[in-house]
Amino acid sequence: MPHYHTLGQIPRKRHTVFRRPDGGLYSEELMGHEGFVGTSSLLYHIRPPTTVISARRIKPIIWEADQDTSLRHRHFRTAGIPAGGSPILDRRLLLFNSDIAMQYVAPTVNDTTHYRNSQADEVVYVAEGTGKLESVFGTLPVKSGDYVVIHRNITHRWAFDFSAGPVKLLVMESHGHVRTPKRYRNEFGQLLEGAPYSERDIQRPMQLEPHDEAGEFPVLVKQYNALNELVLDHHPLDVVGWDGYFYPWIFSIHDFEPIVGRIHQPPPVHQTFQGDGFVICSFCPRPYDFDPQAIPAPYNHSNVDSDEVLFYASSEFMSRKGIEYGSITLHPDGLPHGPHPGRAEASIGAKATNELAVMMDSFRPLHVAKAAEPFEDLHYHKSWLDTQNGAFAPPTS
Ligand SMILES: [Fe+2]
Repeated sequence: MPHYHTLGQIPRKRHTVFRRPDGGLYSEELMGHEGFVGTSSLLYHIRPPTTVISARRIKPIIWEADQDTSLRHRHFRTAGIPAGGSPILDRRLLLFNSDIAMQYVAPTVNDTTHYRNSQADEVVYVAEGTGKLESVFGTLPVKSGDYVVIHRNITHRWAFDFSAGPVKLLVMESHGHVRTPKRYRNEFGQLLEGAPYSERDIQRPMQLEPHDEAGEFPVLVKQYNALNELVLDHHPLDVVGWDGYFYPWIFSIHDFEPIVGRIHQPPPVHQTFQGDGFVICSFCPRPYDFDPQAIPAPYNHSNVDSDEVLFYASSEFMSRKGIEYGSITLHPDGLPHGPHPGRAEASIGAKATNELAVMMDSFRPLHVAKAAEPFEDLHYHKSWLDTQNGAFAPPTS
C-alpha cells in the first residue's frame, strides 16, 4: 500500500507474453483488495497458482466472548500466557469485534507449512523476536519493534531465530485494509513533511528467491471463519517477479518521530495506522511538554465512541505495581480514565518519557475473549483508589 514497488523479473508491458527458460508461459496473477479498484500487484509464477490437488476444511475458528460484560476498566497480563507452539496456530484471542481482533502468541517453533489469511489483514507487532517473513512477494527481515503488515491473501511463513531469544507477538487482525492515516498523505498519495514517518521508513521485500519445485505442498488458509488446507502441486513461493502497490511491509515503532508541544498533545498525534473502525498509535520515547506550567500527564478523558486498548511494550518502563511489560489495558467507552493518584502533580517539570506502547482504539465496542479470562487482573478497575501507586507513569493516552 505505501507506494509502487517492483522486484525480480517482469515483462515490459502487463498482460503480455512472458516466457520461462523452457519456453512455457509464466502465470500472471493479480492480487489486491476491493476487487479491481483497490491497491493491487501483478505477480508472475513459474506454475499456475490454481493447481490444487486437494481441499479440506480443518476446523472452524470460533471466537467466544467472556460472559462477564460488566462495564469496568480491565487489565490482562500477557506475561502469564504460556510460551509455546506456532506463530500462526497457537495465537490466543484477547479482544475482538467485527472490525478488529487482538491476539497474542509467544511461539517456540516455526511452521513447516505456509499460511494465508484470506479474510483479514494482519498487523503483527513484534514485541520481541528476530527472524524473517518469507512471502510470495519475497523475504522481509524482522526484528523487535517491527509492525509487520501482511495484507489479506498473502501466502507466507514466519522463520524466527529462536536461538536469538524469545519471540512475543501481538497480532491485530483487521477486517478492512490497513493503511497509513489519510491525513498524513497529500492528494498524490505521498506522505506529508509533517507526518511522523516517511516512505523511507517503510521496509519492503528486497529479496526474491523463487522455488521451482513440484510435489505436494499444503497451504493453510483462513477464510469464512475456518481453517482450510489446500494442497498445491508445487511450492507456493514460485514468483519470479512482481510489481504494484500490494505487498507485505514493515514499519518499526523505533522509526516513529514523536510530535511534541508546549502543552499536552492529544493521542491522535501518535497515530501510526488507519483501519476500518479502528486506529493504531505508537507511544514512543520523547521530550515532555516544555511550558513550565504544563502538566505532561494526560488529563482525565471519557473516550466517547471509542474503546481504548494499550499494550505496554517496554520492559524498562513499568514502574507501577500491578502493571508490567506485556500488560494490556482496556478502557471502554462510557467510563472516564486518567492519571493515577499523584501522577499529574509528579509529572510537572518532568523533561522526558521513555515510554513505549502500542495503542489500538476501536470505534465499535470490543468483546473480551473467554480465552483472556485466566490472565485478567480483576482489581485493575479500582487502581485509581490506590494511593500506593503514585509513582505510576502510564503512557499518555
Ligand atoms: Fe486514554
